[in-house]
Amino acid sequence: MSFTLPDLPYSYDALAPYMSRETLEYHHDKHHLAYVNNGNNLLKGTEWEGKSLEEIVKGSFGKNPGLFNNAGQHYNHIHFWKWMKPGGGGDKIPGALEKKIVSDLGSVAKFKEDFIQAGVTQFGSGWNWLAVKDGKLVITKTANGENPLVHGATPILGCDVWEHSYYIDYRNRRPDYLKAFVDHLVNWDYVAELYEKAAK
Ligand code: FE2
Repeated sequence: MSFTLPDLPYSYDALAPYMSRETLEYHHDKHHLAYVNNGNNLLKGTEWEGKSLEEIVKGSFGKNPGLFNNAGQHYNHIHFWKWMKPGGGGDKIPGALEKKIVSDLGSVAKFKEDFIQAGVTQFGSGWNWLAVKDGKLVITKTANGENPLVHGATPILGCDVWEHSYYIDYRNRRPDYLKAFVDHLVNWDYVAELYEKAAK
């Protein structure tokens, strides 16, 4: 398979004022597209041609950095667009997932605090995550295009803390961007869907 850029699941104005049209135009139309195009070029002639995106991400990690960076970012961004929705965030967490957050991470409030802190403390470009590892929810952070898949876990929520994701709207205020993501953007239905799949 080759990589293709998915459409955003909402309009470019849908996430304002927390994420602007301008940010989504640059982030989706230019940055994500570049990962798709570079990934397709780097995939040609490798042993991973014809494999699924997850197989490419896991297989190229530590072996083919150029391909891995672009495939990893393609995977991360496909989900990132779906991890947000207009009117999202807050405490509207589907029951089973909310229970699991409370039992594994202390409370919903503690989850939010620790998730935001992971993003704030990721030095340089990267992502902060809520992932399922060995049947438990964990909060992690990774650099650049890495994600929990290459560390034996399944990501169910991630926030892009590359500057291209927030600098237009928040300048250097990464903590404000992360708080807005958690309070107003997270699509908990999609997170719950991924949790159900990972928990099987
Ligand atoms: Fe990004």
